[in-house]
Amino acid sequence: MKENARSIETVALPELPVTQLRRDLRQWYAESGRRLPWRERDDPYLIWVSEIMLQQTQVKTVIPYYQNWLSRFPDLATLAKADLQDVLKAWQGLGYYARARNLHKAAGAVVRQHGGIFPQQLDDVLALPGIGRSTAGGILSAAFNQPVSILDGNVKRVLSRLIALSVPPAKALPQLWQLSDTLLDRENPRDFNQALMDLGATLCTPKNPGCLLCPWRTSCKAYNLEKQSEIPMRETRFPLPHKHIGVAVIWNDRQQLLIDRRLDSGLLGGLWEFPGGKIEPGETIEACIAREIQEELGIEVEVGERLITVEHAYTHFRVTLNVHHCRHLHGEPQAIECQEVRWVTLEEIDRFPFPKANTLIIEALREFANGEPTSAPIRNELR
Ligand code: ADE
Repeated sequence: MKENARSIETVALPELPVTQLRRDLRQWYAESGRRLPWRERDDPYLIWVSEIMLQQTQVKTVIPYYQNWLSRFPDLATLAKADLQDVLKAWQGLGYYARARNLHKAAGAVVRQHGGIFPQQLDDVLALPGIGRSTAGGILSAAFNQPVSILDGNVKRVLSRLIALSVPPAKALPQLWQLSDTLLDRENPRDFNQALMDLGATLCTPKNPGCLLCPWRTSCKAYNLEKQSEIPMRETRFPLPHKHIGVAVIWNDRQQLLIDRRLDSGLLGGLWEFPGGKIEPGETIEACIAREIQEELGIEVEVGERLITVEHAYTHFRVTLNVHHCRHLHGEPQAIECQEVRWVTLEEIDRFPFPKANTLIIEALREFANGEPTSAPIRNELR
C-alpha cells in the first residue's frame, strides 16, 4: 500500500499528443495488424477463450490449442456441460491449469446466472472466475467494442517505454492504467486495444525492439532518450526455491501402473500424476518414496531402479523429480491425500490429463516398455 502511494507521487504522467498517437496507431494497425483466428468474429465466447489462453502464453503456441478447443467445446453451453477431466485434457501442455478450471466454472456461472449469454457489464464480467481487469477489457472491447482499457504484459512494456517510466511497471500500475485509459480511442476501442497488443508483440518487443518501424517512435520517450533496452525496468528477483521430490512408478503383477488425481485446490489441481513427495533432509530417494507411498496411499512398495530424473521450473519454484520403478507389495491403494487412485496400463494412460513434467515420465516409460535405453536420463523442461 505504502509502495503504491509513494509511486503515485513520484511518477507523473507527461503530456502526450493523444489524438496523433491514436491516429498513427490506427494507421499502423490497418497496414500491419495480425490476422488472428479470434479476430474473425465478435462472439464473446470465442474471444473469452482466446483471452484466457493468451494470458500467459504466446500467440503461436495458443493457435493450435484454440482450434482444438473450439472443435471440442464450440460454444459456451457445451463447455458448461463438459466433464472437467475432458476440459483439463484439452488444456494439457498449456500450463497454468487454473485457467482451464476457471473457464469451466465460469461457463457454468454464465449459464446459471446469465441464462447462458455472456454478460456485457464490466462488474458481471469481473465477477467470473479467472477474469481480471485487463482480460475483462480485452473481452469487452473486442466482443462489444466497449471503451474498456487493457494492461497486459505487452501493453505495460509499450506504455512504460512511451513515457520512459523510471520504476518497474509493478510499482506504477495506477499510472499505467490511467495512461491506457487516456490513450484508448473511444471511437474505436476494439481496434485500438488489439493494435496496442500487436505493437507490444511484434515491434515493441522485450529485446531488440523494431523502433524504426514504430508508429509511436517520434513521441516515445524511451526511444528519444535511447533507453528502450533499459525500459521497462526489471523487478528485483529472488532465486526460486528448489524442491526435490521422490516419485514412484508403481507396477502391479498385471503390468498396470498406479496413478492418482490431485486435490482440486492448489497448483495443478485436478490433474493426474505419479505419486510421491518431498525428500526430507538426510533422507535417501528410496526411503522418501517408500514413506510417501505409505503415507499417501497406505500401501507398501519395493523401490527399484531409477527410471528418469526430470528438472522442471514452475513460476514460483523449481522441482527435481527423482523417478523410480516400484513393485506393489501389500495393501489396497487408498486416496488418502488425493481425490482418486487408479491402476492403468501404459496404453490407457493418455486418456488422463497430466502436468507437463509427468508427461516426460510417460515418455520414458514408453521407451522402457519398448526396451529402449532411456535416451536422456536427465531432462530439463523449462516452461
Ligand atoms: N494477447 C492477449 N489478447 C490478445 C489478442 N486479442 N490478440 C493477440 N494477443 C493477445
